[in-house]
Amino acid sequence: MASIRRKTQIAAATVETIAAAAACLRAGGLVAMPTETVYGLAADATSNPAVAGIFAAKGRPAFNPLISHVLDVRAARLEGEFSPEAEKLAEAFWPGPLTLVLPAAPGCRVSLLARAGLDTLALRAPAHETARALIEAAGTPLAAPSANRSGRVSPTSAAHVLADLDGRIDWILDGGPSRLGLESTIVACLDATPTLLRPGAIAREDVEAVLRMGLALGADVGKAPTAPGRLESHYAPRARVRLDARDAGSHEAALDFAGALRGGAPVARLDLSPSGDLVEAASNLFAYLRALDETGAPCIAAAHVPHRGLGAAINDRLKRAAADREA
Ligand code: TXA
Ligand code: MG
Repeated sequence: MASIRRKTQIAAATVETIAAAAACLRAGGLVAMPTETVYGLAADATSNPAVAGIFAAKGRPAFNPLISHVLDVRAARLEGEFSPEAEKLAEAFWPGPLTLVLPAAPGCRVSLLARAGLDTLALRAPAHETARALIEAAGTPLAAPSANRSGRVSPTSAAHVLADLDGRIDWILDGGPSRLGLESTIVACLDATPTLLRPGAIAREDVEAVLRMGLALGADVGKAPTAPGRLESHYAPRARVRLDARDAGSHEAALDFAGALRGGAPVARLDLSPSGDLVEAASNLFAYLRALDETGAPCIAAAHVPHRGLGAAINDRLKRAAADREA
């Protein structure tokens, strides 16, 4: 994809470089930041287009929900609803390598793309001082998966990030080698039984000791690292999804791409990208699926989306939406 060519600046994390990187984030840019677990590829979590940039830079073939990084539990409460168990865990382990999956709060600003369309979201307050300074200077939650190309190992130094993402992101802040070198432990607090979704830098036993109860095991546990976040529960529209449609009938809602859908007078029509830009299409995907679903139309006719670049992830998601309803 030509659109992701960027000039990558790499610099030691200082007050000045952190301020410049934060300004870049506020403008929708991509910044690799050190955390105590692994280096993360950060973007403004509240912006669908900025988050689409993460997926484009990583070359991910699917949209997984991402972790939003915040300064502290106060900032986190604006985005997610904390159960008593979640409060206990944040109190015990934040800032640090624990990620909490929570129901989205009514005023949640984290974009639908960062949440992969879900009504839940993942939040973490990292301990690394550079990550904290960057979040504070950016003034927004930062969505950040590990800063590697899809299918490669997570980076634990600025040099690893450069090797994978040079020319694809705007900044790399060098904060030295990652202290832990292992991703955060992910615990979902969505009902009375907290669930371990991903083992990580904090031992399961330590989480259970704080909660004084055992963790249930979630769908993510034990999955191959090449398929992170293949979640069993993901956003699926109520409407049936008809793939590779050439036209939309009068009873259908139309999910168009580059004005390809012909004829008819559908219930509603939204174009993922009138100009055929796949990064723009990705940024609109979940919001448009929801909006079309909310029309109550029994079927969404989805135009063909080319398979190159982010088209692979868009098609993966549309295919799953179509299959879910048949199952
Ligand atoms: O240590 C880490 O956690 C690193 C550093 C950079 O902070 N970040 C990281 O982020 O590993 P990421 O985005 O690759 O982790 C995303 C994982 C997904 O694969 C999924 O398992 C889980 O977080 N996740 C995120 N949102 C979720 C949700 N709403 N429900 C269930 N799982 C979710
Ligand atoms: Mg990763």
